[in-house]
Amino acid sequence: MAITRRQLIKRASATGAGLMILPTGTLFGKNRPNNKLNIALIGAYGRAKAHYATLHDENVVAICEVNQKNLPYAVKEFPKAKVYEDWRKALDHPGLDAVLCCTPDHHHAFIANWSLNRDLHCFMEKPLAITVEESRIVRETYMKKKDKLATQVGMQRHAHPNFSRLREMIHGGAIGDLRDVAVWGNRQIPKPGYLAGIQPPDTLNWDLWLGPSPYRPFHPEYVKGKVGLNCLQWNMYWDWGVGQIGDMGSHTMDLVWNVIDAELPTSISVASPESLNRDVTPVNMSASYIFPANDWREDIRVTWYQGGAMPESPLDWVNLNAIGHGAWFKGDRGFIIADFRNRILYPYGAQADLTYFDPPSEDELEPPLEHFQKQWTAACRNGDPMNTACNFKYSADMIETMCLGLVGFRAGEGEGEMGERPTLTYDGANGLVTNLESANAFLTKPYREGYLMNG
Ligand SMILES: NC(=O)c1ccc[n+]([C@@H]2O[C@H](COP(=O)([O-])OP(=O)(O)OC[C@H]3O[C@@H](n4cnc5c(N)ncnc54)[C@H](O)[C@@H]3O)[C@@H](O)[C@H]2O)c1
Repeated sequence: MAITRRQLIKRASATGAGLMILPTGTLFGKNRPNNKLNIALIGAYGRAKAHYATLHDENVVAICEVNQKNLPYAVKEFPKAKVYEDWRKALDHPGLDAVLCCTPDHHHAFIANWSLNRDLHCFMEKPLAITVEESRIVRETYMKKKDKLATQVGMQRHAHPNFSRLREMIHGGAIGDLRDVAVWGNRQIPKPGYLAGIQPPDTLNWDLWLGPSPYRPFHPEYVKGKVGLNCLQWNMYWDWGVGQIGDMGSHTMDLVWNVIDAELPTSISVASPESLNRDVTPVNMSASYIFPANDWREDIRVTWYQGGAMPESPLDWVNLNAIGHGAWFKGDRGFIIADFRNRILYPYGAQADLTYFDPPSEDELEPPLEHFQKQWTAACRNGDPMNTACNFKYSADMIETMCLGLVGFRAGEGEGEMGERPTLTYDGANGLVTNLESANAFLTKPYREGYLMNG
């Protein structure tokens, strides 16, 4: 039976240069009697609430928050932490071991890269980055430090055993040779564009909220969402997010990414009924990627659908629209249709008896991941930093791919026109679109002066 990715990660880190056996109470050479991590929490409310319980097992020594209305919740949880407003200062808090970041998306790649540059372990909420270039910079820094720094991106659904079962079934041959994959999300958050601004309240440092992004005037809509869901108020805007391809896409594509052992695609074809809006990312689109063959499969096509665009159902009697966020895998002997927690196996053709498939025995099943956040804190502590499911290599490859979908959406199109969307060929080694020079402009975005990715 094919070995699982997690087992591979474990074996590599147990046999490779990354192995570091530490006596109890020692943390990468720093004496820490209780072996707790000194953590900076950046973006202290909203999604951060979901991390408070894990953080209570560590020392939260710094909190960074730009909204005085949100700050008291975190201060109540971690009263001993020093409070910062600017993450550039918080990252230099003395004695830090690690950073956990829950800010809006446009800070993520910056904070991830700055943390790695300071030799700090990093848990970054999804998405890890919002452009191709950001993804590549974070991955490059991470690859130099992977043997000593533990990283994780907040794709916590990955801890559900369904992720491992899908991988085992597909690698074990349950659907024969993998040929084609479709993955979709039905969330639709249409936005007209940036809103006419008003003066921000005194309680909000809007300048620091914008951070590396170009100046835009404040509007209360951007901060009035439900706790933990406020991201839906801003993540459709080009400046602050990646739209649904990187928001729910980070979770749903993870179902596929965990199976296919892909790195970067060689081509991207985008379809959308929408024309370019320079303020907001599209609602309805699909992006088809070709990934080269590897040692267990041929070339495959993976297509992401969002916002009303949907793949055809492989079975008339399975209504894919009833699965809000899901994926199907097509092999030459059958299909698997899955959501985050469930899967249906449908073998077809003359050999639908499944005799060709030897399911794993109980002791061959990948062990449960258990607690996603604690997998990271354990990896920070135990000298096995690569032993996290969604480290910055895995996650940067995936988000670079999703960002390429948005490059494909913009390529060859003028504002307000439907335009052609040509298939792009991509040179992943060099990070360049090779058949349409103008598309390379969309691999990055404008930034404000004073913010450098490599700070
Ligand atoms: N893993 C998941 O399932 C999941 C779920 C929800 C949100 N998220 C992610 O979490 C992140 C935050 O989402 P949210 O809904 O909590 O957003 P939010 O707008 O509520 O922001 C979170 C907190 O960060 C603060 N903040 C904003 N800019 C800051 C800055 N420059 N420095 C410090 N603090 C700053 C905000 O004031 C707020 O308290 C997003 O990246 C989102 O994608 C992940």
